[in-house]
Amino acid sequence: MATYLVEDARKVTTHRLLEMKQQGKKIAMLTAYDYTTASIVDGAGVDCILVGDSASNVMAGNLTTLPITLDQMIYHARSVVRGVKRALVVCDMPFGTYQVNPTEGVRNAIRIMQETGADALKLEGGVEILDTVRTILEAGIPVMGHLGLTPQSINKFGTYAVRAKEEAEAQKLLSDAQALEEVGCFAVVTEKIPAALNAQVCQSLRIPIIGIGAGSSDGQVLVVDDMLGKNNGFSPKFLRRYADLHTIMTNAIGAYVADVKSGDFPNASEQY
Ligand code: KIV
Repeated sequence: MATYLVEDARKVTTHRLLEMKQQGKKIAMLTAYDYTTASIVDGAGVDCILVGDSASNVMAGNLTTLPITLDQMIYHARSVVRGVKRALVVCDMPFGTYQVNPTEGVRNAIRIMQETGADALKLEGGVEILDTVRTILEAGIPVMGHLGLTPQSINKFGTYAVRAKEEAEAQKLLSDAQALEEVGCFAVVTEKIPAALNAQVCQSLRIPIIGIGAGSSDGQVLVVDDMLGKNNGFSPKFLRRYADLHTIMTNAIGAYVADVKSGDFPNASEQY
């Protein structure tokens, strides 16, 4: 069995991520939504685990991230935290829990932190949510930003196409990233933006930029089910598949069905 050596076995902190950028060390981040997957992801040496609201798509089969609730995110995050020893655990604030006003945002942020044991939160958006980000930071909660293709705004965008190809949107993304750094965010996710723009963001910010479909970055994030090939119907250009779990699982389950039907399972050594 392969073993995965991590250079530094200590619990990853937001400060450590900043040091990694300063030292030119790349940050590996993946999503997880349950205890078992989180313990595998953590044991394999991932630095940062995101309890993404992509759980809405991946776990619940919704078309968008909008339907997932605060209680559901708390359930997922609590399960993930129980499985993690080393990685920094970041939980997404779901749609509708921070957009109304800073007071409601910080109240929901405190609930997630208290009830899950997560290390930090991620919020989508730039200057529009800056007051809320500031209020959450003032409560002592670390915040990761998320710019570019922000899936909670899919109804406004109307498409999952690459964002910020036009100059005006690129300039806004750059100034949003700077505003998030200035207010005190410890990192920013950039999703599906041109690689040249992302390079500019990485260069102009002190805090780490974690890209997804954004080219070279201070770190990378992928949805764990996608990179493991569980869902073979989703294959965007930026996705690298490291396994074909869809085929492996289908074959294993098919073999089980055949064994049950034939009476081969259970055999004499598989009973009491
Ligand atoms: O919810 C999620 O999985 C995310 C990543 C795609 C960054 O936000």
